[in-house]
Amino acid sequence: MALVSCSMLSCNFAYMGKELETVQSAGVDMIHLDVMDGAFVPNITFGAPVIKCLLPLKKVPFESHLMIENPEKYIGDFRKAGSDIITVHAETSNHLDRLIFQIKETGAKAGLAINPATPLSAVAETLRYVDILLLMTVNPGFGGQKYIEYVTDKISEASELRKEKGYSYLIEADGGVDNIHGPKAAAAGCDILVSGSYIFRSANIRDAIDSLKTV
Ligand code: DX5
Ligand code: ZN
Repeated sequence: MALVSCSMLSCNFAYMGKELETVQSAGVDMIHLDVMDGAFVPNITFGAPVIKCLLPLKKVPFESHLMIENPEKYIGDFRKAGSDIITVHAETSNHLDRLIFQIKETGAKAGLAINPATPLSAVAETLRYVDILLLMTVNPGFGGQKYIEYVTDKISEASELRKEKGYSYLIEADGGVDNIHGPKAAAAGCDILVSGSYIFRSANIRDAIDSLKTV
């Protein structure tokens, strides 16, 4: 049984609060907030002030997925805005060990994300401290993209490594996850399925969420 985290990137931003309430009452386990700076990724979304406005409506954990350069400058802001999990990209820091502990010291859980082309070996040393390992199953920057099949092997690799080393990180797949690819990712060892366009474009949001939960 996978947890389902709804990416708000595909919601109608004119009614973001309403859309949040809709998916929370439809049974999502977490909310995934895609923060983009137009530098690390070729798109710009929103920052901590928007997340702060959603905080009074929060019923499930908020994960802020920071697709930004220099994330170390903003960890405190995202924690204060209400992030329960702060996920940073390995590709945006030369000092990953320090960054992971900077997140943990705020009381938030530490998520570590790697792009499709980044090998698991690039983060092997820090995995012992990480609460969530986010494996990008699309190239970051946009919702509605196609799931990249070869990342499923990386999910299996991460699951094997966790068993072998006795680590406790949860494995999260993010991008292009729907009722076809969600089961593949879950079967490979994924614990959390992040889904945006599949949920928001569905005729029935609750059915779409349930179709991912039962994988
Ligand atoms: C992409 C984001 C993902 C994406 C998921 O850079 O990190 O969270 O929005 O949306 P879908 O499910 O539409 O691929
Ligand atoms: Zn994301």
